[in-house]
Amino acid sequence: MSIVTAGENPLGSRIADGTIARPSAPAPETLWSQRFAQRTQRITASMIRELLKLTEYPDIISFAGGLPAPETFEDIALPVPPRSLLQYGPTEGEPELRAAIAQELAAIGLDCPAERVMVLSGSQQGIDLVAKLCIDAGTPVAVESPAYLAALQVFRFFGADLQAMPPGGWGDGPAPALAYVTPTFQNPTGRCWSLEERMALAAACQAQDVVLFEDDPYRELAYEDCERRPIASFMTGGSWVYQGSFSKDLAPGLRLGFLAASEDLFTPLSRLKQAADLHTSRVGQWAALHYLNDPGRPARLGRLAEHYRTRRDRFAEALERHLGGLAEWDVPPGGLFFWVRLAAGLEPQALLARAMQQKVLFTPGEHFLADRAGASPALRLNFSNASVEAAERGLEILGGILREMAADANDPASAAHAA
Ligand SMILES: Cc1ncc(COP(=O)(O)O)c(C=O)c1O
Repeated sequence: MSIVTAGENPLGSRIADGTIARPSAPAPETLWSQRFAQRTQRITASMIRELLKLTEYPDIISFAGGLPAPETFEDIALPVPPRSLLQYGPTEGEPELRAAIAQELAAIGLDCPAERVMVLSGSQQGIDLVAKLCIDAGTPVAVESPAYLAALQVFRFFGADLQAMPPGGWGDGPAPALAYVTPTFQNPTGRCWSLEERMALAAACQAQDVVLFEDDPYRELAYEDCERRPIASFMTGGSWVYQGSFSKDLAPGLRLGFLAASEDLFTPLSRLKQAADLHTSRVGQWAALHYLNDPGRPARLGRLAEHYRTRRDRFAEALERHLGGLAEWDVPPGGLFFWVRLAAGLEPQALLARAMQQKVLFTPGEHFLADRAGASPALRLNFSNASVEAAERGLEILGGILREMAADANDPASAAHAA
């Protein structure tokens, strides 16, 4: 018996002599255009996730992802959950955890009853749910530019018409349907919005009936005194979603986040969550509840911020040593990233190609832009994951390559020779 492909036997079935026909694999472009849903043609591989695959290799120094420092997991006690939690649970999450989150939100100025708090399987899920609820092909969505790459990716997947807006709102331009912002220690810039900018966006959303979508995973990683009051707390009406995460101050592997929403949005979001995964792992929720109730938590958060503040400062010193004169940056007041703008003539993609040969990774700035065809002279450098020593080595390598690139730019003849 032999095997042929269905190309030879279009019916893809047994043929007379007992030969079994195996369906031929359609060309990838046929799959995308004919077999898969139209919207999947807008999916692109995440640059970060592709780079993260490389971080598995030994000796790689990665500034590419947004991974917390592994040593911060050492003091996390994972309680054994009661067996009853092995059963299915409520879509919106465990009532005790929702109540504890509502209490945390009240403490930061956002009054929202526990009934309008939903536990998420990571705050990335909130981005997916809000996009499913609010975005059709062509829906205008205002975003900061640069903005969190994996949110842009989801919005594009649903066909959003992304419009870049500065902190504070879209000004006199046409109002979008949805405004997505990370006002506190933004990914990728680390920037923190002022009180005026926060109040202005809340007022604009409310006045023009725009859904505010506030993403706030970094608020606990604060190294300076900054305005951190949620924009949603200034909404006295209108539609809003505020979301947070347990990934940055506890552990991303737990895949736990939460959202709070205005009354009109909560029920539809909860139906979408039900369709997506029924509910978030109850075992993880148990761990999060313990974490929130742990009297040692404020001290732990203090130690965490101190750890990252030191690491940020050492990173800033190493940046000055190795990239001084070749780039500019602001020291971020919180969060996990430096947004480093290269001097004129130095190109992030060219730097990445050469840095990868020396096992150093980072994410080029263009991936964070609302305009997919836009160019950015910036690099996003994560400072939390590599050790201080590794960061020093990695930045020395980047600085060395940049110096060569700058010399080549000044002397094109030597660049042609080297190429
Ligand atoms: C701005 C922002 N939002 C959401 C997420 C998703 O976080 P998680 O799904 O781990 O809660 C991240 C992760 O880096 C992020 O930077």
